Amino acid sequence: MQLEEVLRRRRMTRRFEATPLRPETLGRLLDAARRVPSAGFTQAVEVVVLTQHAARQRFWAAVADPGWVEDREGAGIVSAPVVVVPVVSPAAYRDRYQERDKTTSSLAGAEGWGIPYWLVDASFCVLALLLAAENEHLGALFFHLQGHEAAALAALGVPPAYQTIGAVALGTRAPDEQPSGSPTRRARRGLDELVHREGW
Ligand SMILES: Cc1cc2nc3c(=O)[nH]c(=O)nc-3n(C[C@H](O)[C@H](O)[C@H](O)COP(=O)(O)O)c2cc1C
Repeated sequence: MQLEEVLRRRRMTRRFEATPLRPETLGRLLDAARRVPSAGFTQAVEVVVLTQHAARQRFWAAVADPGWVEDREGAGIVSAPVVVVPVVSPAAYRDRYQERDKTTSSLAGAEGWGIPYWLVDASFCVLALLLAAENEHLGALFFHLQGHEAAALAALGVPPAYQTIGAVALGTRAPDEQPSGSPTRRARRGLDELVHREGW
């Protein structure tokens, strides 16, 4: 698919078929995530990939109410055969920016990073997964873990130094899947509303 078409077609999917993804398809999605830019080429965003039912159960039990899992929206999302949780340790960035080639950066040895690049990089990872999924005509949903981030990572055995920004559900769109969420209630803003040319 052309990039323009991928960007135009991409939307969040909230009803998945339970059919597993082929390993080679999942491999292509994960490889897309590996190719994103990263600050200082730190490449510290890692992914926890859940394809086994038991592992996904552990994840959903940590982040979702049992009632939601059983309602129509929850059931449609929980049926996704793959959940990818991007994880990243801020320490990797602090270490990277103390390396010799970064000593002149204003971030070298910085205590507080005004812009937490590990979260920027994790976002890029998520976007690559969303776009790569659309490129394969698959559905994907990025979702927030509702304050259960630490519980989710602990349930998956992720070391405590790591953070996450949310998770990505991946799979084939269910036959009755329809556009959902805020775009069904809000119009996409036009370019003229968003673009400030040559200044504000
Ligand atoms: C930071 C962020 C958090 C989001 N959290 C959720 C979420 O928790 N649950 C959900 O169903 N969608 C979530 N979304 C999806 C947005 O609602 C969706 O991207 C937006 O409404 C535009 O729709 P589209 O992606 O289908 O074009 C999130 C998106 C972003 C970027």
